[in-house]
Amino acid sequence: MKNYKRYTVTAALPYANGPLHIGHLAGAYIPSDIYVRYLRSQGRDVVFVCGSDEHGVAITLRAKKDGTTPKEIIDKYHKKIKNSFEEFGISFDIYHRTSAQIHHETSQEFFNILYEKGEFVEKESDQFYDEEYDQYLADRYIIGTCPNCAFDSAYGDQCEKCGSSLNPTDLINPRSVLSGKEPLIRTTKHWYLPLDKYQPWLEEWLIRGKKNDWKSNVYGQCSSWIKAGLQPRAMTRDLDWGVDVPLPGAEGKKLYVWLDAPIGYISATKQWAIENGKDWKPYWKKQPKSENDSRLIHFIGKDNIVFHCIIFPTILNATGEYILPDNVPANEFLNLEGDKLSTSRNWAVWLHEYLEEFPNKQDELRYVLCSILPETKDSEFTWKDYQARVNNELVAIFGNYVNRAIVLTHKFCNGKVPIKSELYEIDKEVIHVLNSFPEKISSALEEFKFREALGLYIDLARTGNKYLAETEPWKFIKTAPERVDTILNIALQIVANLSILGEPFLPNSSKKINAILNCKQLKWSDSGSSELLKAGHEIGEAELLFEKVEDEVIEKQIQKLKSTAMENGKETAKSVAPQKEVIAFDDFMKMDMRIGTILEAEAVPKSNKLLKFKVDTGIDQRTILSGIAKHYTPEEMIGKQVTVLVNLAPRNIMGFESQGMILMAENSDGALKLLQPSDKADDGAEIS
Ligand code: 2FM
Ligand code: ZN
Repeated sequence: MKNYKRYTVTAALPYANGPLHIGHLAGAYIPSDIYVRYLRSQGRDVVFVCGSDEHGVAITLRAKKDGTTPKEIIDKYHKKIKNSFEEFGISFDIYHRTSAQIHHETSQEFFNILYEKGEFVEKESDQFYDEEYDQYLADRYIIGTCPNCAFDSAYGDQCEKCGSSLNPTDLINPRSVLSGKEPLIRTTKHWYLPLDKYQPWLEEWLIRGKKNDWKSNVYGQCSSWIKAGLQPRAMTRDLDWGVDVPLPGAEGKKLYVWLDAPIGYISATKQWAIENGKDWKPYWKKQPKSENDSRLIHFIGKDNIVFHCIIFPTILNATGEYILPDNVPANEFLNLEGDKLSTSRNWAVWLHEYLEEFPNKQDELRYVLCSILPETKDSEFTWKDYQARVNNELVAIFGNYVNRAIVLTHKFCNGKVPIKSELYEIDKEVIHVLNSFPEKISSALEEFKFREALGLYIDLARTGNKYLAETEPWKFIKTAPERVDTILNIALQIVANLSILGEPFLPNSSKKINAILNCKQLKWSDSGSSELLKAGHEIGEAELLFEKVEDEVIEKQIQKLKSTAMENGKETAKSVAPQKEVIAFDDFMKMDMRIGTILEAEAVPKSNKLLKFKVDTGIDQRTILSGIAKHYTPEEMIGKQVTVLVNLAPRNIMGFESQGMILMAENSDGALKLLQPSDKADDGAEIS
């Protein structure tokens, strides 16, 4: 593992237009915080920056919706967001904001550097305009159908479904978010970043460069955009909220929010440097050779990939002065109880509400979210899973182990770390295993595999439990007290290691363990050792680290979401099963699906679910059984055309041989719907 001289770690600046929910934590903030805590524990030089993204249409639209001003919106949510981050222990060195003067100045300086170097192309172009509101329609003021994936609510600058970066005029059927009407086209002047000109550089840096060690979801998206060919992108907007374009003749124009927002990382670092007597430059600017060893890492969600991997690096590179991101470990999305998290539909677990309903349970949520981080594909938060992970892992494995070791020490050794004497094979083995954990957890963290790292961490607690269960020290306190001492000494050393290695994941629990052990937080480099606690050291009283989550607590949360779903006009929470694993085209082609007609239908004796059909498949007439008796009567089925999987191996069901399967869609409430051709089709017609 390479040790860099310094680390600049950024986490996406959240828009200050609403509170934070679990999706935010799982996207960028839990992973970045774990990574930074790990680096700090190793004594590395790191600055961890974030702040509120306070410009752009996301803010002005929110203000309009709430009947207030953008300034009131950003002040309100900046405070809320900052507070949630602090509560969850997201340990930024600074949480800044893009409305700060230093940020406006830094962004304008960037613009001027690029302008003076002749990097922008000044162009008059057609822009959408809402006549009713007398306003140009940039970015989120305009929505329409994405030309790439046909998503019908893509924004003017980006499709959130497929992630592609768009220009407003790319949209099919564009409509104004303000008036809902089809916009007019007007000509206006803007400054464009010619991404097409930088294409060869991007190919060199990203594709032929070393970036194939990036996560495959990130690298794959970037390379396909680059291969598709990049287009110039306007870096200014006709808006009245944002950073002024610092040019004469550009009055009333603002910098594009995706130009100023990532520069927010730099202005935040500047502010941190001022407040802490540091120099911000080595964290961002290229340095003389021997000093030029800073590692820049951006933690983001997948909808931000294009901006952090293509546009911002191009800008940094064009200045000629700045370092480039070394990695961008973007996460996919987190879903909630089968549905996409959504602020507008209130389909979320809000952090401020969680804190009220689960006081002092921040580590529990950090733990569960880290276990299910959407590192390689979208993942799913459910309250039942939350309960299972807390009860079966945090309480039953981790908390239980720490508690047993402490309680036994009080019971048998007067609350003092006992002396370790003769080591048996089992002791040597557990010490050896303990010794191997830091390296394994480090490797996973260095590769941004946070789920794996957490899994390994819990394995260490498992190892401790197993050791106590196998050595059974309570059995021979009378016969071999020195043996009990040795075992408990080792058990306590494992507890001390759990405190060090757990700090990045579960900072509050780690603090509690230190208080129980009556010692200060040790460094990562101390971990792996079985000599952390000296014999005779007095430890504190046992304290339960985690409490079991009861069914009622979880039921209440599920009910809360159900009422949200009802309010949203649905009877029950829509639950969409996650996509199954990707299959090869050849696997799909193995399925032979045909249109068939139901010739005969009857109930199956002794079954209230099954109907038995004779189906004309075009190939033959055959018997097929199907579990749809609760949804269709035999009479109404006769004569219907259906879709049949004809090459499914025959199965014996209730004494009949079923020679295929009639395909159906299942709604979230369990209702079954036949898949039928929209018009009459030939029996035997192939589905492909
Ligand atoms: O997607 C978002 O929420 C943006 N506000 C992220 C900005 S990240 C960075 F560039 F500032
Ligand atoms: Zn799309």
